[in-house]
Amino acid sequence: MKILAIETSCDDTGIAVLQASSSKFKVLANVVSSQQIHANYGGVFPMMAKREHQRNLVPVLEQALKLAKLVNPGHNTAPGFAKFKIPNSKLQILKKILEKENNLFESTKEFLEKYEKPNVDIIAVTNGPGLEPCLHVGVNFAKALSYFWDIPVIPVNHIEGHILVNFMKHETWNMKQMFPAISLVVSGGHTQLILVKKIGNYEIIGETRDDAAGECFDKAARILGLGYPGGPIISKIASEFARSYLAKDPLRGMTSQILLPRPMMHSKDYDFSFSGLKTAVLYKIRDTDPKIAKSQEFIQEMCFAVQDAICDVLIKKTINAAKAYKAKTIILGGGVSANQELRKQFDYKLKAISYKLNLLVPPVNLSTDNGLMIAVAGYFNRNKKTSWKKLTVNANLRIGK
Ligand code: KG4
Ligand code: ZN
Repeated sequence: MKILAIETSCDDTGIAVLQASSSKFKVLANVVSSQQIHANYGGVFPMMAKREHQRNLVPVLEQALKLAKLVNPGHNTAPGFAKFKIPNSKLQILKKILEKENNLFESTKEFLEKYEKPNVDIIAVTNGPGLEPCLHVGVNFAKALSYFWDIPVIPVNHIEGHILVNFMKHETWNMKQMFPAISLVVSGGHTQLILVKKIGNYEIIGETRDDAAGECFDKAARILGLGYPGGPIISKIASEFARSYLAKDPLRGMTSQILLPRPMMHSKDYDFSFSGLKTAVLYKIRDTDPKIAKSQEFIQEMCFAVQDAICDVLIKKTINAAKAYKAKTIILGGGVSANQELRKQFDYKLKAISYKLNLLVPPVNLSTDNGLMIAVAGYFNRNKKTSWKKLTVNANLRIGK
């Protein structure tokens, strides 16, 4: 079965084509266009992101379908033939579906007149959780394609996508040895610990009470004037600090002079809280001589301290949950799981546990938002296929019961 998947829940426009069967997954295309525009503002503005998705969707779709070798400029484009035009009755329905995405309507119309229907069985699309205006663009685009090409759709939970992208190679595993699992989904919008009894059976056992871990990286970066998204920049600068620190004194343990709190690290539940950490960064800067606070050394050390505090809390709580629920596997997902230090420390700490705990971590390019994760989750939800008329958006969609 060939799945065309669309992801627009935040600031990445992602489209993938996956050829999937119970015995093998083959990625035919996975194209992501990350919106650079938000870097100037230190965060994502939903209406600006919506506009960018409208601009990106058709070029990204065209690129994905070309990579997957699924399009031929059809519809009588040969010289001497009249250009194919969508009949007015169908055009009116497309216009209605995309009535709130005017720019997208124009480019979609052009695209549908240029290419024939591709050989695709299902369209999977993120319908929540995420930024509402952004979700609507992707869902309405999926509706338009589904209607025009007469291909069923599958709504996909973005968080389930982050979890299931780890199951790309599932056909080679003994699934009985994987579950129950504990999944840590850490992104710009979410920090959740999820008990995965099996694929499709989820229960949120803990989550952030305020900021998400990625949001904490982003806000700390904004305070330090480092731009957006904060995670990759802080991670890079933190590793520069570690390198120069170890170069000065290779025998000393790796610690920083800047001490930041580890909020809720020892609480008995599996909840998180990261807004205090951002405030602590703000206070440390306020209480430091401005000359020092602006120095490269201080900024490097602060990046190290922020990353260290976030990693400590995430790892401690995840391992506690895995022990309490007798999990056989820890599954990481979401943009923050791209963090090299988090991956390294998880690996290191799991080795110290007396029994075997599998660790599933997606490749870095599949940690952050992408279409492929939606295609994989779409495959596992293939029994939920429905008509485009029934697709709805739920910006606060929750995984599990
Ligand atoms: O999953 P994602 O792409 O989008 C959401 O669903 O939110 O996650 C984006 C978040 C941003 O907050 C970004 O700063 C963070 O993931 N991030 C990282 C890294 N790469 C992205 N955080 C820490 N280290 C990284 N290398
Ligand atoms: Zn995400």
